[in-house]
Amino acid sequence: MAKIEMSTRPLLEQSTDALAVFVEQDAVFSQEVQDIAAMYFPSLQAVMKKRNFTGKALSSLVLSTSTKTGLVDLIFVGLGKRASSSASIDHETYRRALGSIIRAVESRRSTSVAIHMPPSAWMGMTDHECAKETATIVEMASYHFDHFISDKERKLKDIVDIVLVIDKQHEAVFKKGLVEGQLIGNAVNATRYWVDLPPHYMTPIHLAEKARQVAQDRGLKCTVFNEAEINEMGMGGLAGVSVGSERDCQFVILEYKSPKKDAQTVCLVGKGITFDSGGLSIKPATAMETMKDDMAGAAAVISAMDVLAVLKPDVNVIGITPLSENLPSGKATKPGDVITFYNGVTAEVKNTDAEGRLILADALAYGVKHYNPDVIVDIATLTGAISYALGPFFTGLMTQHDEVAKKLEASAQRTGDRVWRLPLHDDYKASIKSSLADICNIGNERYRAGSITGAFFLQNFVGNTPWAHLDIAGTAFNVPDMPYFRSEGATGAGVRLFVDFVMNWK
Ligand code: BES
Ligand code: MN
Ligand code: ZN
Repeated sequence: MAKIEMSTRPLLEQSTDALAVFVEQDAVFSQEVQDIAAMYFPSLQAVMKKRNFTGKALSSLVLSTSTKTGLVDLIFVGLGKRASSSASIDHETYRRALGSIIRAVESRRSTSVAIHMPPSAWMGMTDHECAKETATIVEMASYHFDHFISDKERKLKDIVDIVLVIDKQHEAVFKKGLVEGQLIGNAVNATRYWVDLPPHYMTPIHLAEKARQVAQDRGLKCTVFNEAEINEMGMGGLAGVSVGSERDCQFVILEYKSPKKDAQTVCLVGKGITFDSGGLSIKPATAMETMKDDMAGAAAVISAMDVLAVLKPDVNVIGITPLSENLPSGKATKPGDVITFYNGVTAEVKNTDAEGRLILADALAYGVKHYNPDVIVDIATLTGAISYALGPFFTGLMTQHDEVAKKLEASAQRTGDRVWRLPLHDDYKASIKSSLADICNIGNERYRAGSITGAFFLQNFVGNTPWAHLDIAGTAFNVPDMPYFRSEGATGAGVRLFVDFVMNWK
């Protein structure tokens, strides 16, 4: 966890290992760049030209210089060209530029950096938004998971100090945004850490323990049911997935109650399979390699609750996470078995690898029955098919409720936690018909569209509650080319989205 502070002292008076400034492509030098040139590099313009640095988006130039106190890295990072002279700088370009700064710092094994903040207006943001976004992203970019690497040389150094250099008049609003952004960034990173932990560490009981800890720290109500209780309640989906595993499954409910009278209720549900082998419909070895990540939805819900408990929205928020392993054994659920869910619906299990929908079914039915929410949104690494459709850059959004879609899309736009809507059209509904039970847990081959047919399975458990489904199987881990993520490891997909979504619900 990096310390992020703000400072109104000029950039050149900062005593950090590195100084970073933003450069607009082919624009005249800003005052700070001119100051740096005057102080350290009279020939800066010529040097930039020689190194072919024009301020193009995603480009950076690092020049080292020695001062009285030691070595300083001067980091110039490009913001690209604006779409037109009156347009603002694209937010995603700004995020990636921030990520490039952190990557430049860590590649030089430095531990502190002062970043000269561009005016918020450049991005068309308020100071609060800009501070919040900046703090979120630098915190995210600093995350690294090398818990199990012994060789110190191979470990990245922690960036301990990030100073955001701002003008005096913006201090107060900026500070508030910074604190909020750091809270969000840390919550995203907590999710990434939980997802990155090996499955032997991150078990259902361990993740339930993390949820309990969040609840205790933030004053949320937390209820945890164990496997015996889950069986007793008639959650045949969660119990049926867990029965092949030696470890107990868990069902966790986190509750934030708004002080506002007559507040609406938002319910968030996250898939928490701490390891997905496929069960008896076992996966090939390579497909199993990343299946510790299959609890990313649950982790995102717990982290979003963590942030929301602090931000205290005017709506009640319920976070539900069914947690289980999916393993084969002599007792495991078999293809051909029929299970009965919490709401009485029955399903034929044709493929035990379509287990996410089975545990979400009980969780959605429970959420709808006990909280009668105004909206319910689930998040899950549900289908490999979604990454064929959308790749690693967009989470799949499926809903028949345009108002909910609009709000999620607006949150995605604001936060950079991007979603793309797929058609949840009734034409696909017949794909999950079963001749043996109410529905079947895999879609009929002729319909293909595996992500959409998966969503239609879930639809049977939400009644008339406005509902949206987010498939993060493509976005939750191993996202390439994004400087504020890492090409390997978890991203925390959904945390930023959910926080913004709930804060803007009503
Ligand atoms: N956890 C997987 C989905 C997944 C795949 C997540 C790749 C992340 C990366 C899920 O439980 C699963 O196995 N889905 C099956 C569904 C099929 C059997 C209908 C799939 O996608 O193949
Ligand atoms: Mn599976
Ligand atoms: Zn799974």
